[in-house]
Amino acid sequence: MSKKVRVGIIGCGAIAERVHVPDFHACSQAELVAFCDVDKSKAEALAKQLAPSARIYSDYKQMLKEGGIDAVSVCTPNIYHGPATIMALNSGCHVLVEKPMATSLDEAQKMIDTAKKKGLLLMVNQSQRRFPEHRKAKEVVESGILGKILHVTAMFGHAGPEEWSPTGKWFFNKKEARFGAMADLGVHKADLIRYLTGKEVAEICAFYGRLEKPGATVEDNFVSALKFTDGTLGTLSASWTVKGMSADYIILHCERGSLQVGVNPEKPVIASLVKPLCEIVFPLPEPYSNVSWGIDIGGAFVRAILGIEPPYCTAEEGKKALEIILSAEKSALTGKSVKIKH
Ligand SMILES: NC(=O)c1ccc[n+]([C@@H]2O[C@H](COP(=O)([O-])OP(=O)(O)OC[C@H]3O[C@@H](n4cnc5c(N)ncnc54)[C@H](O)[C@@H]3O)[C@@H](O)[C@H]2O)c1
Repeated sequence: MSKKVRVGIIGCGAIAERVHVPDFHACSQAELVAFCDVDKSKAEALAKQLAPSARIYSDYKQMLKEGGIDAVSVCTPNIYHGPATIMALNSGCHVLVEKPMATSLDEAQKMIDTAKKKGLLLMVNQSQRRFPEHRKAKEVVESGILGKILHVTAMFGHAGPEEWSPTGKWFFNKKEARFGAMADLGVHKADLIRYLTGKEVAEICAFYGRLEKPGATVEDNFVSALKFTDGTLGTLSASWTVKGMSADYIILHCERGSLQVGVNPEKPVIASLVKPLCEIVFPLPEPYSNVSWGIDIGGAFVRAILGIEPPYCTAEEGKKALEIILSAEKSALTGKSVKIKH
């Protein structure tokens, strides 16, 4: 590997522009060397901002064939995550793939197997793990002050991907997205629930529906009930039709009180205890960087490649979050609850 990790970007839309590219640009151990988008003008425009001498492609196969890249970020619509990741790994590149990591468990497993066979790193950008409020919440849970977790409720909703990515029509098209709100937003909380509680979902019962988005072929709303392996109960929901507010929270109801995370934007992490009766408003840790969202996913990926720090979300973890979403979908389609083996 060259001195700096040479990074290529596959898919130059909203998440690449707002998070991956600025984060890699800010990382002294990384160099952005190639940009690819089926719409070449997007790759050109993105490269022009922060890496004007990078190579530009409209076909990732060509980009990977030409080589000179150590690692890639896969930031395409969901359906291409698996194929692009497998090809990148087979070309000798480490991969940071966007969530949901794949569109089926078989595909996710093939990605994991390919990374193992090639001895390369495969990470999934379950970005919520890196937000200050979630890092603090994990610390609070691990401190034990709340006691045993008995009930979990997690929800992620906004008015839909239209504002986030005005050109991202694919979000509404099952052929390219495979899922709607369930995997766009629900997979974030599926991962966060596991990350914060350390618990595994044993059974899930779900409903989903398309209530509003005209012309969409994916669901815009999803609700589910969860039973964990230790008997804890919970709910997980996602929506693209939340208006007048944003809903991006997780609440843990525990033996000695409750932990609210993201319910009140002014006080993102609040523990309400009963013994002693008190409310603790936790200060948040500093963001990981002062760039973009402050989550430094590019730097974290590069440091994981170099063995400096562990991956913040392994492919195996990404697959577990995907499995929760796929099981929810199966439940919604069959009208029966679905068990998940561990
Ligand atoms: N982790 C997060 O917080 C987060 C946030 C938003 C989006 N995402 C994920 O990132 C991915 C991209 O989302 P987005 O919002 O950037 O979408 P977007 O539509 O803004 O960008 C996707 C880009 O990929 C390009 N593209 C399509 N097919 C391609 C191909 N075969 N090869 C190369 N480029 C191709 C499109 O032209 C487009 O420019 C999605 O999987 C989404 O779930 C993650």
